[in-house]
Amino acid sequence: MTALLPTPPGRATTAPPVAVRWVDVRLVHLGSAADLAAAERVLAPTELVRARRGTAPVHRRRVLLRAALRGAAARHLGCRPREVPLDRTPAGRPHLPGTGLDVSCSASGVVGLVAVAAGCRIGVDVEALAPWSDDVLDEGWLAPAEQRALRALLPAGRPQAAARAWTVKEAVLKTHGSGLAGGPASVVTTDPLGAGWALQEIPVPDGWVASLVTAPEQEPTS
Ligand SMILES: CC(C)(COP(=O)(O)OP(=O)(O)OC[C@H]1O[C@@H](n2cnc3c(N)ncnc32)[C@H](O)[C@@H]1OP(=O)(O)O)[C@@H](O)C(=O)NCCC(=O)NCCS
Repeated sequence: MTALLPTPPGRATTAPPVAVRWVDVRLVHLGSAADLAAAERVLAPTELVRARRGTAPVHRRRVLLRAALRGAAARHLGCRPREVPLDRTPAGRPHLPGTGLDVSCSASGVVGLVAVAAGCRIGVDVEALAPWSDDVLDEGWLAPAEQRALRALLPAGRPQAAARAWTVKEAVLKTHGSGLAGGPASVVTTDPLGAGWALQEIPVPDGWVASLVTAPEQEPTS
């Protein structure tokens, strides 16, 4: 049995604040249009307008991904998905002003990822593996050290390694908030991340790879 002891006079009675830090990442299946109408009802009018500008596959992806992101945030905010104050920066970064939470999302083919976090900034990215071609090395998004690392691999390992590098770059740039405008070559995946930044592989179905980056929450929002 434990008892709560009174704090002796003169001792500090307030503990330093505990930094609560968690990330909730969810896999979303984007291959079915069955739930499209229900998902559309969750979106804000501006999100719907943007989704409807797309071709049918883009429309479906935008609606299902955005509805899933709203659903994931709603579970943590204790509100309905439609009520989630989801906004986007001028550069397109989704954010939840005034909630203390951060969000990120990504889609590649039928695989979607949505992530909600507290106590940190996040960026997620998922990418389908593509067949290897040496032309990838000329596309300008790989730094010389990354090109050397890819060349050093057996050919069979290159599709996975190239897709992994791309997801890390995108996840870092999404965390910053710049998106690809930040320049994928500026993120060198063979270098360590900055202080307080961390990288995690996210398990996704075979044929895809996904990365999650976390960073201190005081990172400036672009
Ligand atoms: C946004 C971007 C990073 C997404 O890359 P992608 O692989 O096509 O798409 P993903 O599915 O992985 O991610 C899409 C989500 O990223 C998020 N996103 C968009 N801009 C973002 C930014 N600046 N920072 C963080 N996240 C962003 C959005 O939520 C988007 O989903 P939504 O369109 O449903 O709102 C990239 O397309 C981009 O930077 N676009 C801006 C225009 C640009 O710089 N173009 C240069 C092309 S070389």
